[in-house]
Amino acid sequence: MMIDLSGKVALVTGAASAGGLGFAAAHVMARQGAALFLTDIDGDAVAARAAELRDKGFQAQAMEHDVTDEAAWDMVMEAIVAAYDRLDIGVNNAGIAVLRPMSAMTMEDWRRQLSINLDSVYLGTKAVLDQMRRQGQGGSIINMSSVAGLVGVEGTSAYAASKGGVRLFSKTVALEAAPENIRVNTVHPGMIWTDMQKVAIADNKEVFDQIIAAVPMRRMGEPADIGAMVAFLASDDAKYITGAEFIVDGGMVAQ
Ligand SMILES: NC(=O)c1ccc[n+]([C@@H]2O[C@H](COP(=O)([O-])OP(=O)(O)OC[C@H]3O[C@@H](n4cnc5c(N)ncnc54)[C@H](O)[C@@H]3O)[C@@H](O)[C@H]2O)c1
Repeated sequence: MMIDLSGKVALVTGAASAGGLGFAAAHVMARQGAALFLTDIDGDAVAARAAELRDKGFQAQAMEHDVTDEAAWDMVMEAIVAAYDRLDIGVNNAGIAVLRPMSAMTMEDWRRQLSINLDSVYLGTKAVLDQMRRQGQGGSIINMSSVAGLVGVEGTSAYAASKGGVRLFSKTVALEAAPENIRVNTVHPGMIWTDMQKVAIADNKEVFDQIIAAVPMRRMGEPADIGAMVAFLASDDAKYITGAEFIVDGGMVAQ
């Protein structure tokens, strides 16, 4: 099976991080023929990522965008339609990890985490869904959750709440949008080697070793492992898949 995304237009949020999951997903989808619209709160970096894709001969544009800013979502959708006339794939990937035990959590931490990881997915799904409905030709929305949205992971209370929220929010919207052939699914990465993990582990070799020991495959995943899953869900090969969750974790939550 060869995933074919030719003629499709994809939005990916949080796509500025060079070694991150958003850019990896964008890169895989571009290789399969999609035209990309990348956004990120880091405008310079996301412009650089789009330029890298264009240098490889792919279609890509970028825009600075804070996913928590409701009004800015209208501007993103207008820019996508101005650039490509349509939108077929929406990947709500932007996120941060506020990792603290409950004893160290503040209300401010909680709100920041829920705002960037969950409010953003609500806003992004709503904006993309409205556009897909106007087009009337279906579509695929992929929301980035986590293994922490499936099982408890110590020290991740707010992050887990945000990712568990993404999971059930997505299933519910999938039911509402299914008659219009708009599919909504979640991807649940395990430990994938990106800036987020580098920050979380912060050179602490002991913690790193513990984490790896907890992964049945005894290694971290690569961003492209997530990119491949996103590209599949974006494609027409996944045309009967909606409201479902896709775990890419080297076996972590099978335990
Ligand atoms: N790396 C992992 O192991 C892992 C595991 C499970 C889930 N995830 C999820 O995957 C997604 C991507 O994570 P990553 O590992 O690539 O992280 P990353 O830190 O490499 O990339 C995240 C990107 O999001 C952007 N961003 C942050 N706040 C934003 C905002 N308000 N508006 C727009 N953009 C914003 C950042 O600038 C960055 O480019 C996140 O939702 C994360 O929770 C990652």
